[in-house]
Amino acid sequence: MRKTIIAGNWKMNKSLSDGLSLFSEIKEMVHDEVHTDVEIVINAPFIHLAPLNRLLGSSKIRLGAQNCHYESEGAYTGEISPVMLASIPVQYVVLGHSERREYFNETDELLKKKTDAALSAGLTPIFCCGEPLEVREAGKHVEYVTRQLEASIFHLPAEKFSQLVIAYEPIWAIGTGKTATAQQAQEMHAAIREFLQSQYHDAAQNISILYGGSMKPDNAGELLKMDDVDGGLIGGASLKSRDFVNIIKSV
Ligand code: PGA
Repeated sequence: MRKTIIAGNWKMNKSLSDGLSLFSEIKEMVHDEVHTDVEIVINAPFIHLAPLNRLLGSSKIRLGAQNCHYESEGAYTGEISPVMLASIPVQYVVLGHSERREYFNETDELLKKKTDAALSAGLTPIFCCGEPLEVREAGKHVEYVTRQLEASIFHLPAEKFSQLVIAYEPIWAIGTGKTATAQQAQEMHAAIREFLQSQYHDAAQNISILYGGSMKPDNAGELLKMDDVDGGLIGGASLKSRDFVNIIKSV
């Protein structure tokens, strides 16, 4: 069974106190207003995660990080390992976000190692893929994205692959206010699923594929009703409690 997942990606936003306030607002609204079994995830900055975990109480919200190292421990000044994240505990980690690929030179090979490490620590990677505008305009987006997936996750055995969540985020739609149309999203998600099926057969039917890129309360409903869109990875709109909860409610 495919899980429907709405995941916020706070990126590098919010002081600790502002993050805790935002989380408390979301938690309260989710408690009062969300009665479906959608999986809600907040991918917060590292320093927020342990305090957020203490605020969780009986809330069904899950926590995630936005990155991790590929080693469990060692002399890697400034890094955070998946084992450390699991010890908080958090359940998810975003890997391969286009901002990390672009600004921090994260390669397919590095992401392969991070994916392995996250899975070994018991975390669920939200593995991101997506094409830049010029690739989309050249009509090569399916090829581009399937190559990203092949390079970083196709080495996984089926039972490990089944623990992943995929997020398709066209780079031209991230933070730009320009959303892919529901048809463009569906087309791409179906192509991704078909590609995953070539390697993983039935397991590909059960993988959640999230859409990311300027998802907001007023376009979420249309995107989320597409057959192969199993949720969203939400940046800007996840920083406003009302918007984020309204997106969850549009599932
Ligand atoms: P956005 O970001 O919703 O602000 O476009 C999405 C993401 O980068 O995950």
